[in-house]
Amino acid sequence: MAVALLVAAGRGERLGAPGPKAFVVVAGRPLYAWSLDALRAAPSITDVVVATPDGRPVDGAVSVAGGASRSESVRNALAAAPAGDDVVLVHDAARPLLTPELVEACVARLAGFDAVVAAAPVTDTVKRAGAGRVVRETLDRAELWAVQTPQVFARAWLRRALDQPSEVLAAATDDAGLVEALGGRVGIVPAPRENLKVTTPLDLQVAERMLEDRARSGRTGG
Ligand code: CTP
Ligand code: MG
Repeated sequence: MAVALLVAAGRGERLGAPGPKAFVVVAGRPLYAWSLDALRAAPSITDVVVATPDGRPVDGAVSVAGGASRSESVRNALAAAPAGDDVVLVHDAARPLLTPELVEACVARLAGFDAVVAAAPVTDTVKRAGAGRVVRETLDRAELWAVQTPQVFARAWLRRALDQPSEVLAAATDDAGLVEALGGRVGIVPAPRENLKVTTPLDLQVAERMLEDRARSGRTGG
């Protein structure tokens, strides 16, 4: 069993909507509501804590105020999570196409690891470039994974990863990277690319279309 932390406290600068991204209405509902439904429908999730801007309330879960950076929002949500479950799942509200099946697959894979991340095989060729945009190397795509959320942690590892100065947390793009930097063993759960992240207006259009299709065909996240 696991407690879930849903981070929804970002400003959404790259989306450029008038309000915070997680509260933008997509396919008829606030963005965060789609993944909250999937979390609540997953059998292994006992509680959900949502980090929101200013701690504004959400329907169907406890909310807390987020922090200045994503990982600080995770830390605030963790502090408000009920004691009991030793397993903690973290999900970005910016990924509305989450399914209960992916939640369950991630929770089930934690055994033998300190953290696990949902990730999709990279389909583009990835090159590293230096000054003047001159290519230095082409990475071996067979080894590359595009990391998503959910990310699932042994609670003690997540607490340790987040118990670091704000500058360290602000530099992290995901929490599993913090665990890795402390020597933790991080596993991968293959996940569909459909579990996309809404960052730009184009992403929002694609996600809206997919959520509408899903609702029409009767498959819901919840
Ligand atoms: N997030 C958060 N608290 C922050 C920053 C981000 O809870 N201080 C959350 C966002 O709400 C989002 C997830 O972390 O669900 C991933 O962050 P990102 O996609 O970068 O969202 P924003 O920070 O809102 O967008 P931007 O970086 O474009 O401002
Ligand atoms: Mg951000």
